[in-house]
Amino acid sequence: MTGRPSRRQLFGYAGAAAAGAAVTGGAVALGKESEPVVVAREISPYGDHQPAVVAASPKHAELVAFKLLRGTDKAGLGRLMRLWTSDIVALTAGRPAPGDTAPELAIPGVALTATVGFGPRVFTLSGLTDRAPRGFIDVPAMSHDRLQPVWTSGDLLVLVGADDAVSVVHAIGRLVADAAPFAKPLWRQTGFWNSTGPDGQPITGRNLFNQVDGTGNPTPGTPDFNSTVWNEDGGTTLVVRRIKLNLKTWDELTRSEQERAVGRKLSNGAPLTGATEHDELDLEARDADNRLVIAKNAHARLSHHSENDGRRIFRKGLNYVHDTGATRESGLIFLSYQADLVSQFIPLLTRLDAADALNEWTTTIGSAAFAIPPGFREDGWLGQGLLG
Ligand code: HEM
Repeated sequence: MTGRPSRRQLFGYAGAAAAGAAVTGGAVALGKESEPVVVAREISPYGDHQPAVVAASPKHAELVAFKLLRGTDKAGLGRLMRLWTSDIVALTAGRPAPGDTAPELAIPGVALTATVGFGPRVFTLSGLTDRAPRGFIDVPAMSHDRLQPVWTSGDLLVLVGADDAVSVVHAIGRLVADAAPFAKPLWRQTGFWNSTGPDGQPITGRNLFNQVDGTGNPTPGTPDFNSTVWNEDGGTTLVVRRIKLNLKTWDELTRSEQERAVGRKLSNGAPLTGATEHDELDLEARDADNRLVIAKNAHARLSHHSENDGRRIFRKGLNYVHDTGATRESGLIFLSYQADLVSQFIPLLTRLDAADALNEWTTTIGSAAFAIPPGFREDGWLGQGLLG
């Protein structure tokens, strides 16, 4: 590839409108004729919203959920948030965090982001009991859930993403170390996603079932997106579900059986009633035998907003593998952002739990919910509106 990368290549975001707000600068190294163009990115930590929510899924990510130590109260949590804010400001700029024991591992241009959330227990602390965002509760257990305590619940969350796995591990290390007087890790999950095509352009990305996953999302920057995701304060809520995929039995299906389970084509994610990825689903279409082309229990039908009283969510997947000796478990760290978890996410999940064709090959083994506070400005800190 030669020449200057396009604006979209440079930013590589889920939405151009969001990119304008979130990016402070990107360093571009133009290669020689035969060399690839290297695009280095930085995402500003400042803004009305925590910036990674709208950004494309990162190549590498780690989530750590924490349990608050017994003595951590509202004031203690505020101290931790001020520490984390200065860590995040440094790390996202590629600088070592204050007191960094491995400063050389902090490198710029890897699009590092860190998102912080508060679990339900935070809103039981003295002074915070009436401060939970609208519609924020723990997700109730579903009939198909097989939740394992090691992947479930949490009082605090950090989600670090970057183009580089070493940078993620380094940043997580700093954030966990600074949290030690206040909270200890409860679970950690590592995931990966590919949201860049071979030509450097943003793509939707695929899960380990080989499905194009993320097409039906609202587009960042649109009114639809804003009302789906942001609450009155500029925050949101995040549900993290660790979903095991049974690749063995999935692989035994024919390609058309796999496509019928979702109602979309594997080749490009197009609806079975369309040709290209972003074609609208035709939920009424019938085949020559008068059968619905997108089946009654197809995942894309059951989760479609037109079948759910207009309810929408914003999904961001991360693939995971978990190896134990020679045995590999594969799955999806399913992340869903919505302004109101009770009125948007839970009815959708309940409906899928009851009837989704995909249930045969998927098992949810972890679940947690977090209130994601709004972003912060140069003179502010994370969670200041709640804890300040
Ligand atoms: C491992 C489990 C899951 C897999 C493999 C999966 C996969 C997919 C795929 C391939 C699509 C079609 C392409 C797209 O629009 O992104 C899709 C759509 C969707 N899924 Fe899932 N999904 C899973 C779990 C869930 C869960 C738990 C929910 C919500 C509770 C959900 C909600 C949705 C929604 C809202 C859409 C978009 C529908 C539309 O408006 O077109 N999915 N999913």
